[in-house]
Amino acid sequence: MKTRVTELLGVELPIIQGGMQWVGTAELASAVSNAGAFGVLTALTQPSPEALAAEIARCRGMTDKPFGVNLTILPSINPPPYEAYLDVVIDSGIQVLETAGSNPKAFIDKAKAAGVKIVHKCTAVRHALSAERNGVDAISIDGFECAGHPGEDDIPGLVLIPAAARALKIPLIASGGFGDGRGMAAALMLGAEGINMGTRFCATKEAPIHDAIKAALVAANERDTRLIYRPFRNTARVLKNAISEEVNVIERAPGAAFEDIRHLVAGARGKAALATGDVDQGLVWAGQVIGLIDDVPSVAELIERLVAECRERIAAGAALI
Ligand SMILES: Cc1cc2nc3c(=O)[nH]c(=O)nc-3n(C[C@H](O)[C@H](O)[C@H](O)COP(=O)(O)O)c2cc1C
Repeated sequence: MKTRVTELLGVELPIIQGGMQWVGTAELASAVSNAGAFGVLTALTQPSPEALAAEIARCRGMTDKPFGVNLTILPSINPPPYEAYLDVVIDSGIQVLETAGSNPKAFIDKAKAAGVKIVHKCTAVRHALSAERNGVDAISIDGFECAGHPGEDDIPGLVLIPAAARALKIPLIASGGFGDGRGMAAALMLGAEGINMGTRFCATKEAPIHDAIKAALVAANERDTRLIYRPFRNTARVLKNAISEEVNVIERAPGAAFEDIRHLVAGARGKAALATGDVDQGLVWAGQVIGLIDDVPSVAELIERLVAECRERIAAGAALI
């Protein structure tokens, strides 16, 4: 399964595990890389740049295959020391950085000058083109189905992926809604050269989250996500739970401000939910692909199954010619 994406990342399979706050640790990233795909550590899951350096070293102790680091740059009242995290990525010899969030032009320039390849994740063709002009090496495009921040345009992957593939010259990775080999085959047919998955990797044995949360993802269907923060134009897709329902009620009231929901959406609460298994303790990020998740396999089993099904689907399609 050689594509420009496997070449860029130095892996056998065109499958990436996207950055995930509180989930993208060495346990998951190393399991993904050991299975022939591309694991990604999430920089901001680590409390400090020094802790990220230690996590990179720990991950290297768990795999000798390549893995990357995600750095998510979001507007914040007290921003984390982004540049110090980037310096750790560069100094640790990480070859691939996944950027997401605000336009990371300054970071791109610095990382590129140090020889780090950049996969920029975004949610609109115009943002992808701008990142391409800024010199990123590949684009990961997140459709409306995705967990996390789908943007404000609401364009699902079935349109967004080919639209991006038509417009870009650099390799494209399809993200949002992928969880099985059917989707993977479709992404490759739509013009992507790889897929990125988040939610599906949360429901694996190695994901560092409580079994009760994994069980909640398995039990949920494709109608069980909610969009929050829409009135603030910072839309996010999460698992439907008591917190998301309460947030929706409060934020939709006339004159609502982010301050009114801050206590409900605090990162510490979401982190606690994943750790304790109490699904209603905080926000649990998840995409519509929960409708396709029926079990909690090991990462290796998941990837093997995905690739086999993808090959089967491509062969079945080829038989129609
Ligand atoms: C629990 C969770 C946490 C996430 N945290 C981040 C993050 O910190 N930074 C980021 O760029 N994307 C984050 N994402 C988005 C994923 O990297 C990926 O783009 C998305 O999950 C793809 O959609 P899917 O869930 O349908 O596969 C997160 C996703 C999940 C499920």
